[in-house]
Amino acid sequence: MDWRGKLARWANVGERGAPVAFAGRQREIDLAIRQLEAWQPGTTPGRTVVAQGAPGAGKTALLGEIARRLPERLPNAEAIYMPTPWIDDNVPNVLEELAVKMAGLPADALRTTKGSETVAGVKAVATARHAGSRSVSPPTLQTWRAFSREFERVAHRMNPTLLLIDEIQRIGEGEATRDMLYNLHDQTTFPVVLVCGGLSTSAARLGEVGLSRLDEGSILRIDALTAAEAQRSLEESLGIMADDMGGIAGHPDRWARALAPPTQGWPQHVTCHFRAAAEALLASDRLAFDDANLRDALARAEENMRHYYDRRLEASRTQPMVVYAVHEAIKARTTRRTDAMAVVDAVRGLLGRHDAEDHDAIFRRAGDCINQMLYAGVVAYATNVTTSPLSIPIPSMAAHIAGLLTTEQRDAVRRAIGPAIAH
Ligand SMILES: Nc1ncnc2c1ncn2[C@@H]1O[C@H](COP(=O)(O)OP(=O)(O)OP(=O)(O)O)[C@@H](O)[C@H]1O
Ligand SMILES: [Mg+2]
Repeated sequence: MDWRGKLARWANVGERGAPVAFAGRQREIDLAIRQLEAWQPGTTPGRTVVAQGAPGAGKTALLGEIARRLPERLPNAEAIYMPTPWIDDNVPNVLEELAVKMAGLPADALRTTKGSETVAGVKAVATARHAGSRSVSPPTLQTWRAFSREFERVAHRMNPTLLLIDEIQRIGEGEATRDMLYNLHDQTTFPVVLVCGGLSTSAARLGEVGLSRLDEGSILRIDALTAAEAQRSLEESLGIMADDMGGIAGHPDRWARALAPPTQGWPQHVTCHFRAAAEALLASDRLAFDDANLRDALARAEENMRHYYDRRLEASRTQPMVVYAVHEAIKARTTRRTDAMAVVDAVRGLLGRHDAEDHDAIFRRAGDCINQMLYAGVVAYATNVTTSPLSIPIPSMAAHIAGLLTTEQRDAVRRAIGPAIAH
């Protein structure tokens, strides 16, 4: 591959998930692994850790890093990653992975054979989907009781296992997944700890579906990295890229020092600055960490951040004026969910006819609008409890959204929300 092809690959590293160089989060990683170390048979059930944070905070990356570091700390431990807990089709695969990794059973031990007994003695529950195509199908949740007996047979020699579940805010949409997690959460025989990643509504959601044995200590808030961590991640990833390219003239540490501050430590922005560095080198005719390329990289990164905020805003399905109003309220005083709802209602009247019709078509109540804003990460809960005040996840996001409005619009919004936020 020519050098441009190689560099293009670096300019396209994933915006989500595992970073080139992971930094920070030591406390979170320790806590998750310690829960598994502390596991004792027959004691308190339901060890669960929840890492909550806005989109781009690094929840998926954290789950991946926990899995990567687990063997150093607990050599016989296993990790199972479950990315889509709202899709019930994955339950059989997770159960099978548990059988293999946690219980050390052969891969087909829990498979059911149509109309007969399986090798593991689990009665056949071939699903309709599988029944026609193959004679052997993976385990389904109906067989949980049967094969939890099978697991018990080998309980004395099970490998401690972390079940890493991403996007947990959507738990409950799939009933089988919820039931499986409930079963795992509610037993004291198998060494399983659930480590979940999700938006700031996750702990509340877990409560709603009956997986609520969480205390403050088991809910972790995933937020910006420190300035030093952001810089280290950039320096390391630029170094890795330089090595892969067979060397790049100049020093990556100088670039890392310049690129780190505008990220405000926000993990998504760290990645976007790294990508921008690769993009700038790709666009240049000099493969060098020099000043001209750095200026280009910074400009590209700023553009990428704007795109990111526009995508977040789009995901919120909320008019910029409404988001701006809620952000202003949050900046002015303690704003809880109900206060924010009053702000949404107050500013609704300022929208032009079309925008107002759109708003009403999407949101039946102001509460729906706040939910969607939380979902998109345009606002977040300030702490881990959903009764806590709201916050703005990344400071520069509010500045960007304010910049989309005219001065008149901003003034009108501030006048309109005055009464709603006054006490
Ligand atoms: N600790 C970290 N060090 C360096 N980079 C990180 C770190 N955590 C996350 N990142 C990078 O930040 C970006 C966002 O991370 P990630 O996809 O894990 O976020 P997320 O919280 O799962 O977002 P979403 O809610 O959209 O799924 C990714 O490019 C990832 O590689
Ligand atoms: Mg994620």
